[in-house]
This record gives sequence, structure tokens and C-alpha cells, in this order.
Amino acid sequence: KQPESHILVIFGASGDLTKRKLIPALYELHTQNLLPEKLAVLGVARTKLTDLEFRENMKEFLPDQQHTQKDIDAFLEHLYYQPLSTADAVDYPILKKRLELLSKELSIPENYIFYLSTPPNLYEIIPQSLAEVGLNEPVSGYKRLIIEKPFGTDLKSAKELNKNLLNYFNEDQLYRIDHYLGKETVQNMLVTRFSNGIFEPIWNRNFIHHVEITSAETLGVEDRGGYYDHSGAMRDMVQNHLMQLVGLVAMEPPVVIEADAIRNETLKVFQSLRPITEAEVAKNVIRGQYIRSNHGKEPVIGYREEHGVDPLSKTETYLAMKFFIDNFRWAGVPFYIRTGKKLPARVTEVVIHFKNTPHHLFGNTDNADAINNQLVLRIQPDEGILLKIGMKVPGAGFHVQTVNMDFHYSELSDVYLPSAYGRLLLDCMQGDATLYSRGDAVEKAWEFVQPILNAWQNNPEIPVYGYPAGTWGPEVVDDLMEEGMWRYPCKNLSHDGEYC
Ligand code: BG6
Repeated sequence: KQPESHILVIFGASGDLTKRKLIPALYELHTQNLLPEKLAVLGVARTKLTDLEFRENMKEFLPDQQHTQKDIDAFLEHLYYQPLSTADAVDYPILKKRLELLSKELSIPENYIFYLSTPPNLYEIIPQSLAEVGLNEPVSGYKRLIIEKPFGTDLKSAKELNKNLLNYFNEDQLYRIDHYLGKETVQNMLVTRFSNGIFEPIWNRNFIHHVEITSAETLGVEDRGGYYDHSGAMRDMVQNHLMQLVGLVAMEPPVVIEADAIRNETLKVFQSLRPITEAEVAKNVIRGQYIRSNHGKEPVIGYREEHGVDPLSKTETYLAMKFFIDNFRWAGVPFYIRTGKKLPARVTEVVIHFKNTPHHLFGNTDNADAINNQLVLRIQPDEGILLKIGMKVPGAGFHVQTVNMDFHYSELSDVYLPSAYGRLLLDCMQGDATLYSRGDAVEKAWEFVQPILNAWQNNPEIPVYGYPAGTWGPEVVDDLMEEGMWRYPCKNLSHDGEYC
């Protein structure tokens, strides 16, 4: 259904996220005719700009597509700008006035979405200041608030943030964004699991040996060294994106596909995570940091040489860990997750490793994989699903070989794969919070990772292993996985392997 006409206010309109993600996503919705009949996007930031200057600035960030000038102009006409000292409560009556004027001028009902795309230190003052001028009250139109990550920097700050938000907005007005949930293939995990009679019966401890989730990036910290050095892989990727993937892989079937039904099930998974105590961290969690590497075509600098990073930094750019989910479905099944920057490939995937057959009939199996069925859910890139099964090699005897049953989304060439931000913005415009995180689940995920962060803080002797940029991370991670081998998606690259 087409969303109701509204005004989308972007706080932090001169920031990176607005240019790189939000404006392109809105443009994508525009070209797909998914925007409401009437929409104003009001950029808010401290810089003094006119509407026309803002439009001109945003123009260069529209995705490179074959669109006519008319299309581009029609989109840019949605954009408006309001200079505002966001941190100053006294400025908010100006914002209120501007919104009322825009509503009247464009005949848009007072439906407002506020997008917090600012540094997180403003997450307290903005909701409070909006409330002070009544912009939180869903009278004569809805009022919604989208909050970007990071949602807190630890359990305590996440709880405080939730508490503060709930002082001014109701939970059903809050949309905590985790862009992984907006990815088409992440949602497809629900469909794979719950629409296929063949998977659901075997999706449990009786048939699954272990689960492996990888999110590898080739990029380093780019120009975000200052932010990243206070964050690290645990806060940047694991507490949010990877935990959401764990939630979807491990959850029980929701009663219906609706926001609270799904979010209740994710929460239960997080509640069942077996805590890793501080004493167990060194054994179950491996952290690493990329170091200078000379083995690619060009030398690559190490993390500590990056702009904005402390030259003695111990911040992890790589993390691998093993944990368990203590419930009926998953008792005893190890879960492994790993993520890292400057790895040899950009790939995010979930691999379900099934148990072997009870008895090896074909002794001459020449490939161990043949007896380890794997279902690979490829989140990105080359989105799709791969099932590895053992087959007979034609000819004499019974030689078994692994073959792939492989589906690629790209084969559905006429299908439009929306961007994660496009999908999530559209959902919020439609009032659907299914793919947004709920406060209690965010806190539970923090509760799980907090002892690990504490252990690192309190025990500096827990190593930060160096790995040369462009390799698959510290070699010790192989010892973490007792159940077999990590899957190296770019063929069988070893740790000192080359770039893909
Ligand atoms: C962001 C992190 O949330 O997710 C980045 O802050 C990371 O550090 C990015 O690169 C990964 O997202 P994607 O969609 O490229 O996998």
C-alpha cells in the first residue's frame, strides 16, 4: 500500500549517512513510484543553506542511473532545508513553525517522521526538545522517530537511552534501525525456514551439527577511524547486525508475520544465549587487528596507521567467537560468528552444517565435505542459497563428491532488489516496525556482549592478534572451531592466501 503523505525530517542532513544512504534510498523509492502522493524531506543541520542549495548539494549523491532530468528534478523538489542548532532546545519552535508552514503549503497532514542521523550524543536532547514543543504528540497526524546505530556504547548507556526515549515517545513510535534487517536476503531467511516443509523439521539439534555466520569486509575503516577506534567490531557489527542474524536463524516460528510476533521470538533467542563469563572470554572469543601488509599488489597500511586511530590502539577490527543457545531447539549446537575488516573478500553468509550420516558406507570418500551437508544462505553479495550434497562420481566404484545446488537471485533478472535503507524507510512510512529492533531485544543483545567488553577492558593481557590486511584473520581462530573448518568463501584460501 502507498504510504500516507508526510514530512520526513532528517537531523544530521549534512552528514555522511544522509548523502551515502538516505538520499539515494529515497531516490530509489521515487523511481519505483513507492513514495507517498505528497512528501517533503526536510534536512536539518547547523550549516546555513537554502532549500535550493540543499537540493544542489544532494544532487551529486543520487545513484548513477539512466534517469531523465525530469525525474531528477521531480525528486529534488521533495527536498527542503532548515538550518537549526540541533543541540539547542530553544531552536525547536523554529522547527515546529517550519513544519506547520510546509504542511499547510503542501497540504500534507501533520504526519512527521524524525530521523536521527546525528552523532549519538544528540540522541537525548533531540527527542526531549521535540517533546518540549509537542512534536512527539500523535495528534492530527502520526509522529515517528527513527534512531540510527550505535544504540548505546554498552549495556548501561543502551538502557539509559531507551529510558530517555520512552520518556518522550511510546515504544510504538520508535524505530531503531539495524540496516541488516532491511536486506532482502536476511528477510528471505524467514521464508526459507518457514515456508519450506523440508527445512523446518531438520532445523534443530537433532540434525544440525553447528552454525557458522560470517560477515567479512574488504574495506578498512576508511575515513571513520575516529569513530571506529572507540567502537571496534563488537560494537560496530556483532552487538547489532550479527546478533540479528543469529536471532533469525535460531528463532521459533512466529505466530504471525507481524512486528511484535517476530520480535518476541528474537527476544527469546537472546534470552537463551548462554552467557560467556569474563573468565571464559580468552578461550571463546578471538579478537584481531589488521596490520600492514605488503603481499598484495600495493602495500596496505595497518589499522594503527589509519587516520584518527590511536597508534597504540587495542581496538579489534576482527572478532570470532563461539557460543551456545540454551533452549530445546539448540541445546549443544555450537554457534560460530566472525567478522572483520580488510579480509580477502566481501561476503556475508550463514552456513548450516548438518550432521553426518550415522555410518560411512562409502569408505573411499575423497572429499570430507561430501559427508557434511551444508546449507549456505548467502546474504551478500551474489545473494542466493547453496546446498552442498554428496553425489556419486560416475564410473566404477562408489566415489563420492560434493556438488552444489545453487540458486542466485541474479537469475531472477526482472526482480528489483530494494536497498536495505529503501526498504526500511518505506516500512517506517507505512508504520511497519517488523524489521526494526525493539528496545528489550537491544538490551538483551548488549547483556550478552557486555561481559566480553568488560573482560577486554579489565584484562589487557587478553591478546589482540595481528593479521596482515588482506588475509582471513588471526590463525588462532582455527583452534576456536573444534567442529571442523571455517568456510573460506573464496575457494580454500589459507590465512596467508592472496586477494580474491
Ligand atoms: C555498518 C558499520 O553498520 O555496517 C560498518 O558501521 C560496516 O563498519 C557496515 O562496514 C557493513 O554493512 P554492509 O551492509 O556493507 O554489510
